Amino acid sequence: MVGSREIQTKWDQLYQEGRISRHRGNTHRWLTTHKRWLSGGLALEIACGRGWDAIWLAQHGYRVIATDISRRALQLARRAAHAAGIEERMIFLLSNVQEVDFLPATFDLLLGFSFWERKKAPVMKAWVKPGGLILYETLNSGWLDFRPGVNPEHVLRPGELSAWLADWEIIDQKEMMDWREEEGIRPVNGILARKPAEK
Ligand SMILES: C[S@@+](CC[C@H](N)C(=O)[O-])C[C@H]1O[C@@H](n2cnc3c(N)ncnc32)[C@H](O)[C@@H]1O
Repeated sequence: MVGSREIQTKWDQLYQEGRISRHRGNTHRWLTTHKRWLSGGLALEIACGRGWDAIWLAQHGYRVIATDISRRALQLARRAAHAAGIEERMIFLLSNVQEVDFLPATFDLLLGFSFWERKKAPVMKAWVKPGGLILYETLNSGWLDFRPGVNPEHVLRPGELSAWLADWEIIDQKEMMDWREEEGIRPVNGILARKPAEK
């Protein structure tokens, strides 16, 4: 396993050099189009980057723990939250997803974009409360056709998100294999699913 320090240095550098830009603009459409399902509570965003999605959640009724391994990204995120006037609804947690842990049934919503840590997925699922949601979107194996150097461990296998949440109620999902940058279409899979309520 690559050490936390190495991963952090790599990502800090990418943010420092301005190489993590978001061509789509701010909040992900996969989040905003599902607004009617999002009824507030405590949310966790893993690998939040500059925090645009976490900030949107804080503006829409959630208290948010936004985590990332990059100190630089979290500094940018906290600055943006301050500018938006919602910093007090957010906690910025500097952590490696591989190592962080929460008690089971802690969050009403777990959010993740453009990040996948396969080994941690079963644990992340347990952090969500019964009746809570996971909203997730990240690159799938179609990405490897465009970027052969990418580590396959960090992209989704076909059907992986729906298999991950197979025992949950799947509210919406998508699998896109095309990449048409100018139209904002990338090879991503997305899912919105609800954990069964306790009987
Ligand atoms: C492609 S960016 C996506 C950021 C954000 N979710 C977005 O969609 O704009 C991937 C993010 O994952 C973070 N990251 C990479 N490895 C990580 C790890 N092991 N634990 C926590 N965050 C990590 C990086 O610092 C970076 O912010």
